[in-house]
Amino acid sequence: QRHLISAADLTRDDAVLILDTAEEMARVADRPIKKLPTLRGRTVVNLFFEDSTRTRISFEAAEKRLSADVINFTAKGSSVSKGESLKDTAQTLEAMGVDAVVIRHGASGAPYRLATSGWIDAAVVNAGDGTHQHPTQALLDAFTVRRRLVGRDTGLGKDLNGRRITLVGDILHSRVARSNVDLLHTLGAEVTLVAPPTLLPVGVETWPCEVSYDLDSTLPKSDAVMLLRVQRERMNAAFFPTEREYSRRYGLDGDRMAKMPDHAVVMHPGPMVRGMEITAEVADSDRCTAVEQVTNGVSIRMAVLYLLLGGNEPAVSHARTTEE
Ligand code: CP
Repeated sequence: QRHLISAADLTRDDAVLILDTAEEMARVADRPIKKLPTLRGRTVVNLFFEDSTRTRISFEAAEKRLSADVINFTAKGSSVSKGESLKDTAQTLEAMGVDAVVIRHGASGAPYRLATSGWIDAAVVNAGDGTHQHPTQALLDAFTVRRRLVGRDTGLGKDLNGRRITLVGDILHSRVARSNVDLLHTLGAEVTLVAPPTLLPVGVETWPCEVSYDLDSTLPKSDAVMLLRVQRERMNAAFFPTEREYSRRYGLDGDRMAKMPDHAVVMHPGPMVRGMEITAEVADSDRCTAVEQVTNGVSIRMAVLYLLLGGNEPAVSHARTTEE
């Protein structure tokens, strides 16, 4: 069985195949009827133990556009609140005949455990685990930056070679940062992390990227700047930077954005805390791709599910839509 657990598991060819397949899926979304029959008769469960808006809804949209049967599960309101384990929850779902499990969990490693434990036969897709990984977020970010900086043509030459991507903020608690560093490096980009020293993880010097504490000197050298939310819910209150302190040194406002090259874009995985890591002026500007990232997330998740579950079917570009 094939799974998607970590961006670090993807080779450059794997990643480019997913990005190229997502371009084909995006063309389906432009059609009057946005559905493909590829996963008809297959069942996908969205197993969310942590809150989500974008990831949960876009996986559901992707599954429905591929004609899969969709089961949505959230821990709140389930028997998890009565103490049921991940194993028993997963096996209950497996007993109902599930082909793929999309899982978000607060514990780093939960999707890996589900994929390798033998508890279930289904394909496992990691939708974010603790502070560890969020591979489909990294893929949709790479898709967005490739479209903006390189263009929409597909092919193995269309990677991010030499593009300079800066990630700013709470690296310590960010599965988005870890996944993006892994994937962007694989795709040939030069990644720089900018963060307060207290929000950098131990061992960051071994990651395939540069580290800086000075946002203002990094901005003019960036093709894309990705802002990360300060994840207060994962922090000891004693280590909270105040909103004012944080935004003064690491927040992106209009004056700072003007230091970026004209072609450079501002990215945010969401949810945004306006006024802290990003001002409303920047968030609402044409240079900010936050909403575009959400749209692209549906195409990426369609591509991932298609490649994991329907990859023996004809290539997506030749697949029939339900309107044909
Ligand atoms: N970017 C992201 O994972 O957002 P959600 O937590 O809303 O899914």
